[in-house]
Amino acid sequence: MSGTRTNTSLRPNLAVEVAGIAMKNPVMPASGTFGYGEEYAPFLDLNNLGAIVTKGLSLKPKAGNPTPRIAETTSGMLNAIGLQNVGIDVFIKHKMPFLRETNTPVIANFFGNTLDEYGEVARRLSEIPELAGVELNISCPNVKQGGIVFGTDPQAAHQVVRVVREQLDKPLIVKLTPNVTDITVIARAVEEAGADAISCINTLTGMSIDVRTRKPKIANRTGGLSGPAIRPIAVRLVHQVVQAVKVPVVGVGGIMCADDALEFLIVGASAVQVGTANFIDPTAMQTIIDGLENFCVAHNISDIRQLIGSLEL
Ligand SMILES: Cc1cc2nc3c(=O)[nH]c(=O)nc-3n(C[C@H](O)[C@H](O)[C@H](O)COP(=O)(O)O)c2cc1C
Repeated sequence: MSGTRTNTSLRPNLAVEVAGIAMKNPVMPASGTFGYGEEYAPFLDLNNLGAIVTKGLSLKPKAGNPTPRIAETTSGMLNAIGLQNVGIDVFIKHKMPFLRETNTPVIANFFGNTLDEYGEVARRLSEIPELAGVELNISCPNVKQGGIVFGTDPQAAHQVVRVVREQLDKPLIVKLTPNVTDITVIARAVEEAGADAISCINTLTGMSIDVRTRKPKIANRTGGLSGPAIRPIAVRLVHQVVQAVKVPVVGVGGIMCADDALEFLIVGASAVQVGTANFIDPTAMQTIIDGLENFCVAHNISDIRQLIGSLEL
């Protein structure tokens, strides 16, 4: 054996597994902040990521909300993009060919406006062999039931996950909304309905006003708050969810650097997603992956999984 391999063997193991999806490291983009992957290829090597998570897909293409639909806030941003996306057909025809060339697992985020639509998109996604798994966004209103948001009602959340589970033969990650009184009730409902993992959190509903015009800063009036401002809330919610369910949890919310990602791992997240940070620095995820490795080396940790759920109380 050549002696040149010695250094490599000292590198910590960053690999994790979420819902049966093997990842080289625990870092992946948060849906909607990384396009369909290709947009970021000029900035970082997609093969270095733990997984690629796509923009939320729907049955038909969606134009999204009127502009302005993004506003910067203190330590965060508000967005009301309105789930603009190319739709499942264009995704399969024009986005998957690029994605299937990477050796990183691809996770398709998706949503629907009715139970039937959720089921139909799940069925179509099942037909894409190269998809490693899906992430179900349940932060959407059910247009057939008075606009109740699926993810804010335990019964509706259970029902939508069950419908998707029946149509899907891939690992299913269910993404929770923080806009609820007790997230653990929803987490248990989606676990019972067949979720293989849970990601949390989606954005928190917020509002911001231009005091000179006295108008909301975004045309939709309200939007989803993301970025560092929400991180302590996200860490708390992940901490609660980890204790409520047995399935793995993916932590999302305001991660800007490796230390932020570590907070989520320590409270028990098996992996993390990076969102708003990608808009500030498109290489943020690579810096975070390198930072996690450096942290492990500095603290004599041979396997990052030793950190997961290592919270001291
Ligand atoms: C511009 C924008 C678009 C988003 N689109 C989606 C989406 O399509 N589906 C989804 O589940 N979450 C979406 N999200 C929520 C993010 O995936 C993430 O949960 C949230 O932004 C919190 O993480 P962050 O603070 O790191 O950005 C979006 C967020 C932003 C800022």
